[in-house]
Amino acid sequence: MQKRKLVFDYNLFDSIEELSSVQQKLMHSAIAARKDAYAPYSKFHVGAAVLLKNGKTVIGSNQENASYPAGVCAERVAILYAGAKYPGVAIVAIAITATSKNHKVDAPVTSCGICRQSMAEYEQKQKTPIEILMMGEIGQVIQCNSVLDLIPFAFDSAFL
Ligand code: THU
Repeated sequence: MQKRKLVFDYNLFDSIEELSSVQQKLMHSAIAARKDAYAPYSKFHVGAAVLLKNGKTVIGSNQENASYPAGVCAERVAILYAGAKYPGVAIVAIAITATSKNHKVDAPVTSCGICRQSMAEYEQKQKTPIEILMMGEIGQVIQCNSVLDLIPFAFDSAFL
């Protein structure tokens, strides 16, 4: 038996103002995307913005459904749309933010497992890391350099 340990580095910013101008712009696109969330059930409005290598930004927001599992998270709406609209164009970064009608979201919102798997697919496909920025509606921002840091032992095409 070998005992092993996994560690990864990430950055924690006190607020959006601490980010670079490129990162701030992307996060502001994600904030703007929140208003188009369709979240009548959870009242949790998530916005995502994807920055592509060609300079374009693609946005998404969560789209819920009365049949709850049929709803789709903001990250997947954005990243799948990026893949469909700009096939073959590398994804540089994704910013995520959320607000709630029930409470103040003052801690960074971290992506769900399915979104991590979905984003990891694109990172593996393009063979370059995707930066991920995660924020609530105010306060700290978590920045990770790679989606794969967030999903160790991810299932991928190598198993198939
Ligand atoms: N949601 C996202 O859009 N992204 C996440 O990473 C976490 C959750 C959405 C799904 C659902 O519409 C609502 O937030 C509550 O789970």
